[in-house]
Formats: sequence, structure tokens, C-alpha cells
Amino acid sequence: MLERVLELLGPALTGSEPVVVDANLGLGGHSEALLAAHPSLHLIGIDRDPFAIDFSTRRLSPYADRITLVHASSGDLAEVLARAGRTTINGALFDLGVSSPQLDEAERGFAYSYDAPLDMRMDTDQELTAEQVVNTYSAAELTRILRDYGEERFAPRVAGLIIKERAKEAITSTKRLADIVREAIPAATRRTGGNPAKRTFQALRIEVNAELSALEAALPAALDALALGGRVVVLAYHSLEDRLTKQALTARTRDTSPPGLPVPLPAHQPRFRLLTRGAELPSEEELARNPRAASARLRAAERIRVDD
Ligand SMILES: C[S@@+](CC[C@H](N)C(=O)[O-])C[C@H]1O[C@@H](n2cnc3c(N)ncnc32)[C@H](O)[C@@H]1O
Repeated sequence: MLERVLELLGPALTGSEPVVVDANLGLGGHSEALLAAHPSLHLIGIDRDPFAIDFSTRRLSPYADRITLVHASSGDLAEVLARAGRTTINGALFDLGVSSPQLDEAERGFAYSYDAPLDMRMDTDQELTAEQVVNTYSAAELTRILRDYGEERFAPRVAGLIIKERAKEAITSTKRLADIVREAIPAATRRTGGNPAKRTFQALRIEVNAELSALEAALPAALDALALGGRVVVLAYHSLEDRLTKQALTARTRDTSPPGLPVPLPAHQPRFRLLTRGAELPSEEELARNPRAASARLRAAERIRVDD
């Protein structure tokens, strides 16, 4: 959805030295395209994965004088902007979730399709790993995570079997966890709907990386920092991220005047307008090129009023 991202952010990046934040720098693909398309653009790129920062530093070296790359969580976006001396921005991009190398490098422990240590940290400097979650959280905590973050119907059964199995021996590998999940899911359900470990692995990843709380802090911080005419684009890859995004955007696109007033109150007029109707999905052509885009949901908004 790169072309659509460029099209949506483009009109906000036409000033003399516009600033854009790429809150999920990853391999720098979106950032590179934005820098190439806008010759006076300054880009602040954030990623919590040190390998993403190293890779993008090399990839974006032709633009070295126009970039600030920061190893941080997007949850700290307000501080990152303050430290960069750029508290007002013109564009923000959130391409949420995991990157291809995180999924494809077996030893990162994100994928149920490889046998590897249960890790799943995007930020390899952080302490909490999936192994710690799986071996130390209570049955109630595991059930909540699997249900809320994985939308796993059989959360109590999976959590129950994890507790039983870890009492025999700590669960330290992706393969053993995937086998436990498969055993916990009723056979009739197992035959439908892909790998049964998918939901559990998504849930653990979200917990280990505190993905939803980072988004809850980052998106409002980016929206608050947008100048008049500034635009935000969010690419979400599961319903929880997309729901949070929808809530944050729609809350700011509403007239909050108390009902029944003869005239709308200026201070209660919306500060943003939506640029997308509902969530946009990838095209057939995009899916043929990149099957991992299947779950992508794109939403965008524009700042139309600044606070008095
Ligand atoms: C889908 S990839 C981004 C790909 C990127 N747009 C590109 O063109 O290469 C998502 C990236 O976001 C990072 N990430 C996820 N949550 C984050 C957070 N809270 N703060 C900073 N980076 C985060 C991951 O480490 C990963 O590199």
C-alpha cells in the first residue's frame, strides 16, 4: 500500500521544510520513498528494534542530512519529538506490527513455523521475553492475554495446558509451545482455519512488546503534534490495532458541542477530518505481490483545526 501512503501524505509535505515521523521505520521502505518524493522533507524514523535502526541507517545514508533515526518505542513519541526539537510535524506514518526479518529470522522466536527459543522481543535490549510470559504468568493472566490479544476461543484450555506442561518442564521453544496449543484445541476446530498456534503467538507477541499500550500513547501524541493540514496514515494488521486507530481518529473528527445548541460551538468543532471511508484494504494486485499484506487495514486523517 506504499503508493496509497505516498498519495495520502503527499499534500501535507509540500511546505518549505516539512517534517514527517515514521513511527515504524522497519527496513526503511516507506521512509526511503517519502524522502525521494519530497526533496526538502526531514524524516524522524523510530523503531524499537536495533537491527531495524542499523539497517535503515545504511539504507537511508544518501539522505543522511535529512533524517533523524531513533531507537525507541513509538510510545515515547512525544519525548522523541521534543529531543529532536521538532514538536510540530506535518505527517505521521504508522506501519504497525512485525517486520519481515523479525518473522523470517528463526532465532527471533516470533514464528511458529520454525523451532527456536521463545523470544519475540522487537527490542532485543528489553528484559521480558515470551519464555518468561509463558512460564511465569498465572492461568488467569494467560487466559486474558490469549482471549483479548489473540481472540482465542479456547483461551482457558490453552492456558490450562500451558500451566500443566510447564510444571513438568519449562516451555522454552516455539515448537513445544505450538505443539501444546495444537493439543489444547479440540480436534474438530483444528481441521479448520489455519495453524491453531497463530492466535496464541499473536497474543504473546502483543504482550511481550506491549504493542497496544505503545499505540495508545503514540497515536494521540502524533495527532497532537500535527500542524494545520498535517496528515496521519495508519496501517494496522489485526482488529485490535485497527479498533484503537478507529477510536482515536473518530474521537477527533466529531463535533463535541453539547446537543440542542442553536449554533455549534467553535471550540467543539472537529480538529480532524477522515481521509478514508472506513478502513481501506489492499488490492488484489498488492496481495498477489505480497501475501503478508492480507490483513492490512489503512486509515488516514487530516488536521483541519488547531487548538485555540
Ligand atoms: C511492518 S514493520 C515496518 C516496515 C516499514 N514501514 C518498511 O517500509 O520497511 C513494523 C516495524 O515497527 C516496529 N515496531 C513495532 N512496534 C513498535 C513500537 N511500539 N515502537 C517502535 N517500533 C515499533 C517493529 O520493530 C518493525 O520494525
